[in-house]
Amino acid sequence: MSKTSVLFVCLGNICRSPAAEAIFQNIVNDKGLANQFIVDSAGTGSWHIGKKADSRMIFAAKKRNINITSNARQIIKDDFRKFDYILVMDNSNFNNVLNLKNQVKGVDLAKILKIQEFALIYNEKEVPDPYFGGDAGFDHVLDILEDSVSCFLENITYS
Ligand code: 4NP
Repeated sequence: MSKTSVLFVCLGNICRSPAAEAIFQNIVNDKGLANQFIVDSAGTGSWHIGKKADSRMIFAAKKRNINITSNARQIIKDDFRKFDYILVMDNSNFNNVLNLKNQVKGVDLAKILKIQEFALIYNEKEVPDPYFGGDAGFDHVLDILEDSVSCFLENITYS
């Protein structure tokens, strides 16, 4: 049985994508599917490499029993060979990730998808960047990620 590998990507890898990673991991754990998935996150930028997630996002997530434990890293070319799906938060992430993919040689590279395309409740086209806003922005990001990430799982086939 081969595992399905999923990489969530945002700009800094300290707010949106570590939250998406933790939410998705919780869902597959709860469904007894943990051994069928590899879940990770990364940023297109390098500013926060090695850092814990933003404390505002850690706090907002804790209120809903989501533990964000990852350390930030930057996406690398090998990720396109290692992962089945790369799920981005906004159009800017999409363009940056696609540019990097175009520099990667190989077959069967990761599919790049916008996570919001899977949302059923929240019809915003992008997951908004909460970094420069207030606390409510972090709760809103979690709301829309809980929607889109669970719908993503319903939409893919895994073995
Ligand atoms: P993220 O949020 O992409 O959701 O992790 C951001 C984090 C940091 C910065 C921008 C967005 N920054 O400019 O440092």
